[in-house]
Amino acid sequence: MTDGKLRLGVNIDHVATVRNARGSAYPDPLRAAKIAEEAGADGITAHLREDRRHISDADIEALMDGLTLPLNFEMAATDEMQKIALRHKPHAVCIVPEKREERTTEGGLEVAREENKLAHFIAPLREAGCRVSIFIAADQRQIEAAHRIGAEVIELHTGAYCDFHAEGAFDKRDAELARLTDMATFGHSLGLEVHAGHGLTYDTVKPVAALPQVMELNIGHFLIGEAIFRGLDPAIREMRRLMDEARETA
Ligand code: PXP
Repeated sequence: MTDGKLRLGVNIDHVATVRNARGSAYPDPLRAAKIAEEAGADGITAHLREDRRHISDADIEALMDGLTLPLNFEMAATDEMQKIALRHKPHAVCIVPEKREERTTEGGLEVAREENKLAHFIAPLREAGCRVSIFIAADQRQIEAAHRIGAEVIELHTGAYCDFHAEGAFDKRDAELARLTDMATFGHSLGLEVHAGHGLTYDTVKPVAALPQVMELNIGHFLIGEAIFRGLDPAIREMRRLMDEARETA
């Protein structure tokens, strides 16, 4: 039993990371986004960080102008980012926690403690027509809070599940997958659309893709890395194939 086709959002941040390593004009994230579309992506995700370490303001403009796929604009809950989102009005906004010193988005957003502030923060984004998603740990308290503040979507952080798999800590990995399963069911029961992502690879994607309540996976780092060896189009097609296979046999 599934709730429909599982969407793949391809995160292109690390195309910009490679470009920025040399301060050159290439590789171009928009070109990567167009290849992703050809290869079966349903959306493009880009995270404009406060320090602009990968995606730049100009990239967001180029994506807004040049993309035919919906853009999922990832951002921290800051006034600066809210202004940028309200100017561009992307299809979706995903609110993530952001620490300057982290290498990637390490944990989920603390929604429960910041409920009022976040409710006010997302209201204008929703009024502007953006689908607001909150990136959170698979934690009932956080999911309830995301629901109360008026988010339409939660994205469950799959980083711990993937890390345990990579470490060979399979009992812990399975416990984390059970938690993701329970919390996807719980979020769905509240009427939230459930997404998932972070750290997913060919080895870890299928059990998450098989969860019937999960409607979208956002995947970046692994795909951009894999593109070095097999090319971006085949790398994405293989992910798409594994997702579809997991869904069909779920
Ligand atoms: N979802 C969210 C909210 C993220 O912040 C990220 C990383 O930017 C991803 C998905 C994709 O994670 P990864 O690049 O590890 O596939």
